[in-house]
Amino acid sequence: MKQITLNEYLNKENPWTDRLQGITDFKKKRDLQQIENEYNLDKYAKLLEFDFDTVEDYKKKEFEQAGLHPITGTIIISKGDDVFKTSVSNARNLFYQLILSKIKKYSSENICELGCGYGYNLSLVGSNTYGGEYSSNAVKIAKKIGLDVSEFNYYTESDYNFIKPNTTIFTTHSIEQIPDATVIINNLEKQKDKINYVIHFEPTVINERTSPFGKMRNKYMELNDYNTNLLYVLKERNDIEILELEIDIFGLVPLNTTNLIIWKFKK
Ligand SMILES: C[S@@+](CC[C@H](N)C(=O)[O-])C[C@H]1O[C@@H](n2cnc3c(N)ncnc32)[C@H](O)[C@@H]1O
Repeated sequence: MKQITLNEYLNKENPWTDRLQGITDFKKKRDLQQIENEYNLDKYAKLLEFDFDTVEDYKKKEFEQAGLHPITGTIIISKGDDVFKTSVSNARNLFYQLILSKIKKYSSENICELGCGYGYNLSLVGSNTYGGEYSSNAVKIAKKIGLDVSEFNYYTESDYNFIKPNTTIFTTHSIEQIPDATVIINNLEKQKDKINYVIHFEPTVINERTSPFGKMRNKYMELNDYNTNLLYVLKERNDIEILELEIDIFGLVPLNTTNLIIWKFKK
């Protein structure tokens, strides 16, 4: 793993260099139509065209479709504000080790991922796992490879009824897709007796970021209409205890960096 400078990351080939400075226009509106187009009809519909037997084959194809060789390709990642060049396989190992170590620490009888795509993370966690996902094409892939994934929409209160008693919930870059997290936390509250812990691996706006790179990350969230308030919705509530918080813990995409937030409803 080789450390590189921010200038090497935000070089002239990176379209975000000009977008973040307002030199070229970029603005998304992240409503359900955007999710339908970007995920269901594009990314997952394209993957569903392949008839693979294993979840790993679908993940490899996903990397290939993003223009990266799933093992030997080179990728730029981040830890805090530091940026590194490494192999895709090393980057993936580091990211999944992080996810698995936190889920193991806060494990329950059942483990549920919300916004789980076709269930790749669930397949790593192992038995007693289930998930919910908006994209019907992702759910079809998951079922085809034998994973317990149901259709689920963060915005629909009754969809949360599928949460089983004695569950640890986790989310991985799916609340990033919901500009205002208030609806999610309100809907989880209705299921709170079934939920032991909630673990987020999520990009979000962090108002306390003061470094130039940190401010660029907040701008990146704004231009993509990604989540702006997950941390602050949680902090405002007096029925929630935050157990772990680590900002910019790891970035498979350095501008879209993952924050770790672990919490529980006070009993
Ligand atoms: C970046 S992908 C991450 C998928 C998966 N968590 C993973 O780590 O591989 C974002 C996921 O959020 C899902 N999503 C977006 N909006 C959603 C919604 N309203 N309800 C449920 N899932 C949603 C997308 O369909 C997509 O699968």
